[in-house]
Amino acid sequence: MKVAIACDHGGFALKGELEKYLAARGTEFIDLGTDGTASVDYPDYAEKAAAAVLSGECRFGIVICGTGIGISIAANKIRGIRCAHCQDAYSARMSRAHNDANMLAFGARVIGAGLMCDIVDAFLDGEFEGGRHSRRVEKIAAIEEKYGK
Ligand code: RB5
Repeated sequence: MKVAIACDHGGFALKGELEKYLAARGTEFIDLGTDGTASVDYPDYAEKAAAAVLSGECRFGIVICGTGIGISIAANKIRGIRCAHCQDAYSARMSRAHNDANMLAFGARVIGAGLMCDIVDAFLDGEFEGGRHSRRVEKIAAIEEKYGK
């Protein structure tokens, strides 16, 4: 399983912690930037990670901005992306189990590295349950089609 990771300047330090953690747990990743603390625009980095997921290069994307809000909103504008902005492990696990989330977003000004690592485990180790949840995920795709997202 390969993971695409990306962040804006607000998420740069936490992305470093994420890289260390993914390496430690043996999860392959590609780093799509940003590469420093100079101000950048979070939609650009949401798009980079989403593109890597949609192309099939990566199974999941993990994106970080200051709050996790802007970068998750941007990712969720892209057809086929289901980005879960999580601040707890339960939500992350359920985002896989019920929503078949393919991206995870963090707010670096909200959570620390320890909590982030627990959330990453819950997300990456989670499994989509299918069944009635498939119907609901299909309805999300239908909404994307209907509104030309
Ligand atoms: C950048 O200052 C900040 O707005 C951004 O990282 C993010 O929090 C937006 O949602």
